[in-house]
Amino acid sequence: FEIYLNGLRGVTPTLPMDWASLEQRAQAAMPASVWSYVAGGAGDEHTQRANVRAFERYGLMPRMLVGAARRDLSVDLFGLRLESPLFMAPVGVIGLCAQDGHGDLATARAAARTGVPMVASTLSVDPMEDVAAEFGDTPGFFQLYTPTDRELAESLVKRAEAAGFKGIVVTLDTWVTGWRPRDLSTSNFPQLRGHCLANYTSDPRFRELQPSTDPQDVVGTWAGVFGNPLTWDDLPWLRSLTELPLILKGLCHPEDVRRARDGGVDGIYCSNHGGRQANGGLPALDALPGVVEAADGLPVLFDSGVRSGADVVKALALGATAVGVGRPYAYGLAVGGEDGLVHVLRSLLAEADLTMAVDGYPTLADLTPESLVTVPRA
Ligand code: FNR
Repeated sequence: FEIYLNGLRGVTPTLPMDWASLEQRAQAAMPASVWSYVAGGAGDEHTQRANVRAFERYGLMPRMLVGAARRDLSVDLFGLRLESPLFMAPVGVIGLCAQDGHGDLATARAAARTGVPMVASTLSVDPMEDVAAEFGDTPGFFQLYTPTDRELAESLVKRAEAAGFKGIVVTLDTWVTGWRPRDLSTSNFPQLRGHCLANYTSDPRFRELQPSTDPQDVVGTWAGVFGNPLTWDDLPWLRSLTELPLILKGLCHPEDVRRARDGGVDGIYCSNHGGRQANGGLPALDALPGVVEAADGLPVLFDSGVRSGADVVKALALGATAVGVGRPYAYGLAVGGEDGLVHVLRSLLAEADLTMAVDGYPTLADLTPESLVTVPRA
């Protein structure tokens, strides 16, 4: 009611209340190169669109007379009690989405204000220690792009532990960058322009590496550290890096999930990188049920295509333990700074909460695949 009551006092929202306006305002607020990098995806972006549209195929079946006056969205994740199952997926250029160029810090502050955890990308404008210092009481996670140099990888993980991160998310689907026509047509690749490399360049091990010692040589810097095409043989090494919860991001095939589980990971992160990496694949949502089954009780994080609170509820009903957004919070930050980002998160949570209220599902445990029906495309 906060927004309606403000309206009675003549205060109407200045921030967008729906996805289409948020997207439109973000495009106007962002420099063209940042917009193209954030909004774009692989190929003709079919998979990116399919991620979003996949949610339309499910409908939550309303249940009445449940008395869902109070809802409980809190969730246990890796022994942490979270106020809600929503989290912010790692976005490597989030720093550039803020007007002042320090979006990583603004995102961490928004996490502190909302209780919505941030998964901080390896690719950030500000070093992870400065980001973690802004988390307040909200737990944060560190996303590792595993460098080719193992000692550098180890150093990044140790720094994340020391900085107080509560888990390590290793992204597997981006050891090489996908075919992204929007950025290719303008030769636009922020990291090759020297952006968002602070975690590498601030690392003591990084300074020992060749050929990446010259801070002006960003191509050398980038190529020297990025792009480790990991294999299953590397999983024991990854596992040995930390006692913190280890989560593998980018898993969609049930067999991969089973291998990860057997390899001792603590969580599975089902995602197709928001359709940025490979085009022509399946919507991540369609992989989720198989991933949940194969995870066999391990927590499953999910992202790709979530645009509303109702989408959050549908992913939960399909078995996700926690649900992430990428572009939505990047747009909120671009449009309204830290307050804009907080607004987007609060809107997603409010809509999820209201959906559960109206449809009669007071707790997350009430949401099961049986709560959903498949609906024909409109
Ligand atoms: C990403 N994503 C991403 N993932 C990751 O593991 N490390 C990273 O640094 C990045 N960087 C990144 C930049 C930008 C601009 C975007 C949009 C996304 C992928 C991200 O974590 C997530 O998987 C998707 O964004 C989810 O899809 P939606 O919510 O954007 O549809």
